[in-house]
Amino acid sequence: MQGPLPQLRTATREHHARIDRLMDLRRMRDRRHYAEVLRVFDAFLAAWEPAVIAALPARWHGWLQARSRRPFLRADLQALGVPPGPRDAGVPALAGAAAAWGSLYVMEGSALGGQAIARSLADAGLRPGLGSAYFHGWGEATGAMWREFRALLDAQLAGPGAVGDACDAACRTFDTLSNLLEISLHERTPAA
Ligand code: HEM
Repeated sequence: MQGPLPQLRTATREHHARIDRLMDLRRMRDRRHYAEVLRVFDAFLAAWEPAVIAALPARWHGWLQARSRRPFLRADLQALGVPPGPRDAGVPALAGAAAAWGSLYVMEGSALGGQAIARSLADAGLRPGLGSAYFHGWGEATGAMWREFRALLDAQLAGPGAVGDACDAACRTFDTLSNLLEISLHERTPAA
């Protein structure tokens, strides 16, 4: 495989493993644990989305807004009667477009794992209209959207040093979200 994706994958592998352990697919069927995960994502996205928008040129803003899965998250919180997440989530500093694309890799990639998460939640009675809209996301369109995003990554990270900046931002994005999850879920897992 060519392009920046193999490097992003390698750089973030341990970070993905950490967040996977923290979220804990089996525990996600526990309503209290799941509600806390949703609140953390809500807090994170509230700070992260404006940071990405600020780091990318205006021509990308409409594209970003159209891809936002935050409305799904708000619908889940409402469906489950969960109060919105805390408002003091920090975000990784995104110094430039390459960093923003690296950070986007994390959240766009999470839509892939989201498909597996949504299937697992369905076994616990949570469906897109009833609390699992965020992880279900764009559903069957997810694969095609991911392929489109990968092509964009290839084009946007072609400049010198861009992949390194993107990998750095991707790792920090995972860490920010993992640290929030760790605090909220009162768990301790070793940093990647
Ligand atoms: C219970 C939690 C999670 C599970 C079980 C999980 C599972 C998975 C799975 C199965 C894939 C591969 C999907 C495919 O190739 O079709 C994947 C990809 C990915 N996930 Fe997760 N995931 C979880 C949480 C997260 C979170 C919270 C994030 C980031 C916020 C994340 C970021 C990514 C990324 C970036 C990829 C794409 C890797 C690549 O193809 O380069 N995941 N995940």
